[in-house]
Amino acid sequence: MLRYQKAHQNCRPAHGILPAGNRKGLWNMAYKRTEIDEKEIARQRDICARISAENAGLPERPLALVDTYGCQQNEEDSERLRGYLAEMGFGFTRDENAAEVVVVNTCAIREHAEMRVLGNVGALVHAKKRNPRLVVAVCGCMVQQPHMAEKLKKSFRVVDLAFGPHQLWRFPELYDRARAHRERVFQCGPSEGVVAEGVPAARDGKVKAWLSVMYGCNNFCTYCVVPSVRGRERSRKPEDVVAEARELVAAGYKDITLLGQNVNSYGRDLPDGVDFAGLIRQINAIPGDFLIRFMTSHPRDATETLFKTMAECEKCAKQLHLPVQSGSDRVLRAMNRHYDRAKYMELIACARRYMPDLVVTTDIIVGFPGETEADFEETIRLVEQVRYDAMFTFIYSPRVGTPAAAMPDPVTREEKQSWFDKLVETANAISAEKHRAYEGKTLRVLVDGETERGEYNLSARTNGGRLVHLRGDTGLVGSFVSARIVSSGTWALYGEII
Ligand code: 5AD
Ligand code: SF4
Repeated sequence: MLRYQKAHQNCRPAHGILPAGNRKGLWNMAYKRTEIDEKEIARQRDICARISAENAGLPERPLALVDTYGCQQNEEDSERLRGYLAEMGFGFTRDENAAEVVVVNTCAIREHAEMRVLGNVGALVHAKKRNPRLVVAVCGCMVQQPHMAEKLKKSFRVVDLAFGPHQLWRFPELYDRARAHRERVFQCGPSEGVVAEGVPAARDGKVKAWLSVMYGCNNFCTYCVVPSVRGRERSRKPEDVVAEARELVAAGYKDITLLGQNVNSYGRDLPDGVDFAGLIRQINAIPGDFLIRFMTSHPRDATETLFKTMAECEKCAKQLHLPVQSGSDRVLRAMNRHYDRAKYMELIACARRYMPDLVVTTDIIVGFPGETEADFEETIRLVEQVRYDAMFTFIYSPRVGTPAAAMPDPVTREEKQSWFDKLVETANAISAEKHRAYEGKTLRVLVDGETERGEYNLSARTNGGRLVHLRGDTGLVGSFVSARIVSSGTWALYGEII
């Protein structure tokens, strides 16, 4: 049984600046939150147990490949897919020719990501020729777009199963149908989103863990496909989030990243009044030596309360990812971002007052429709003023059905590329300078993995999330150590364990 609830009204785009032609379809849906009953999840796990019993009778353990594109939310979703597959008795492989099932978890944020997926899915025909039993599944954001589901259905016969993010909780049932090879299973219909508790996870590492606190987005930035594919904002109940955080700490995880498209609006759709700052405090109170990180914060909803909480919670990493997208007020308005440059600069100043050593990172889009060179120069000036520790920069990519895709876009690709190159150069110079300032300092860092980088065999992260290469015993993975930074580059620091 599914439960439906009505929730808050803050779910519509501010239509003021949107072209009338785009005020249709998914952008205007009324909001519904769907909670999946635990009995439904139990039924999925029963299906896993049945498949596992069958797999146990095979001469060799069957293997699965889960290929992930896109953001951390997709990484987390893939851990859930692997959780189900592990319960079905599958081992894992990176070789599609050794697999009995391949799941491609896709991203729709930019065209480039979609092209890579389509190329790789198309290439699976060779693996399928070798092994006709192979089940090819494609899921995630790309599939949730009707035109892409249609394309996969018509032009990619190799695909046996396709399902959007809202159907992930019932992957066992869908896989069970698809593996019979009697029909192609396509479950990509519209949904505003579900909350499913109790889906098993097979996590990638033993040190860092993703922890979703909410799903979906209500912000409707005019360039972004996320609200239409991931649905409206749904917060997990604080008790569910805190219980999972406790389990992670008990299992030895040391670096927990709370995930949401816009974590600052956490809890607005829940009845009990817990906000994101309150959630951080609850997780901070869990006994143990671990770090809490989070992403992503929308400047529209970032508050002094959040920064004060970050400063006061000793386990909360002093790291803030605050996407600005553009330094031009005109462009920010056209993007429907609900803040201007002055408000953004105030937020940064406020955050730094509470946390002088705060590591600040951002996302920036270059070449938004109608952006001029003067707008772009404003972005460069903002970057020079804020002095980000690191930046994620993107050239604007038109997305089907978004308002920005219908806006006039006269600037050539070459010109956008030259702006992009200039921005990257500016950002890299600042990152390198900021990294140089670490040289000679001794920091407490978390050793989070092994690498094969010549003389450095360990990777670690500072409290603020900067990458540190170290040399040392691999038994240190998962421990906090003191490291003296001896040199630095644009992307990383290099240190010695003390
Ligand atoms: N084109 C380019 N970049 C985009 N982003 C989101 N949508 C688009 C798009 N259509 C970027 C934003 C966002 C990040 C995750 O991806 O900068 O913060
Ligand atoms: Fe997309 Fe983020 Fe804007 Fe939501 S807040 S619409 S996910 S860019």
